[in-house]
Amino acid sequence: MAVATIAPEPIRFAYWVPNVSGGLVISKIEQRTSWDAAYNRRLAQIAEEAGFDYALTQIRFTAGYGAEYQHESVAFSHALLAATSRLKVIAAILPGPWNPTLAAKQVATISQLTEGRIAVNIVSGWFSGEFRAIGEPWLDHDERYRRSEEFIRSLRGIWTQDNFTFRGDFYRYTNYTLKPKPAQSLPEIFQGGSSRAARDMAARVSDWYFTNGNTPENIRTQVDDIRAKARENGHSVKIGVNAFVIARDTEEEARAVLQQIIDQADPEAVKAFGHEVKNAGKASPEGEGNWATSSFEDLVQYNDGFKTNLIGTPDQIAERIVALKDVGVDLALLGFLHFQEEVKYFGERVIPRVRALEAARERRAEAA
Ligand SMILES: Cc1cc2nc3c(=O)[nH]c(=O)nc-3n(C[C@H](O)[C@H](O)[C@H](O)COP(=O)(O)O)c2cc1C
Repeated sequence: MAVATIAPEPIRFAYWVPNVSGGLVISKIEQRTSWDAAYNRRLAQIAEEAGFDYALTQIRFTAGYGAEYQHESVAFSHALLAATSRLKVIAAILPGPWNPTLAAKQVATISQLTEGRIAVNIVSGWFSGEFRAIGEPWLDHDERYRRSEEFIRSLRGIWTQDNFTFRGDFYRYTNYTLKPKPAQSLPEIFQGGSSRAARDMAARVSDWYFTNGNTPENIRTQVDDIRAKARENGHSVKIGVNAFVIARDTEEEARAVLQQIIDQADPEAVKAFGHEVKNAGKASPEGEGNWATSSFEDLVQYNDGFKTNLIGTPDQIAERIVALKDVGVDLALLGFLHFQEEVKYFGERVIPRVRALEAARERRAEAA
């Protein structure tokens, strides 16, 4: 039986860049968060100061379910990198609208401009209406992943080889040499999605597997599955998990905020979003995937972030983060209601507790 690997490194923190309007919950509750550039530049600086390693931008091409305005992810990532000095920014890229040639070139240039601080998140699409609106063919679920895998193989080939030659069903290259290549280290390749096809792709080609929020038990199942397959393939993959954080001085306050978010949810938008994403998950041959079992309450947060239960006091949250680490998670990807204020609070109150718990565990392990 596969056993979860305990990550020896400190757990890493990423935050969702609110480059799409409406925040990270489909609710009419007040969100002191803005999708504009000035707010986001300041947020990136606060996050870097607070101890976050990464920021993740989102890609959306059209409105839907409350996200009326959407800044493009690669250009926006560069703006955040220009405003910071240590933070790595992960730019979401959607095969279909992007091809690997353009993505490889854009990201190599940004890498050169930012001393290698750019990474990519290859997403495979869930929003068929968006594809229809921009005239892109909507492929079947597993075909989307077959295309994404070729996309990732192409990106890595272009970034690492001269005279790159590749014969895929979606992309072809003949003696292609990209100059300049990315600066310093290769941009890390993340991917999002939890279906069988997503896991198998992670076990073959991705550096990082991002999954929706879930309990440690359910995350463990995914981690064991992916890492066992990756070992068979001679590949290794790191794991990032989504969570929506509500950290307050008391647990009652935190739970009350969660209740208000759900009470003020926009039911039409949540149901329409649920319909769209459940179709995306169920369309996978095994009928699983992100959102397959999500309830109305879960769907109020776009990526099931309440399920991870980082809701409570800083101590409770720190303990739950370390429990995620124990099942093999390398990175917590976090969303907040009031981003600037709460990222700062998280950096002051939660991250030091996580580091203290990690240090105590290490001491115990050494003593044993
Ligand atoms: C952390 C994370 C970030 C994602 N970001 C985006 C995004 O910016 N744009 C997008 O269209 N889809 C995004 N997705 C959706 C995935 O690419 C994928 O289509 C979805 O999770 C369904 O995958 P599944 O059927 O394999 O579970 C994201 C998913 C995750 C888990």
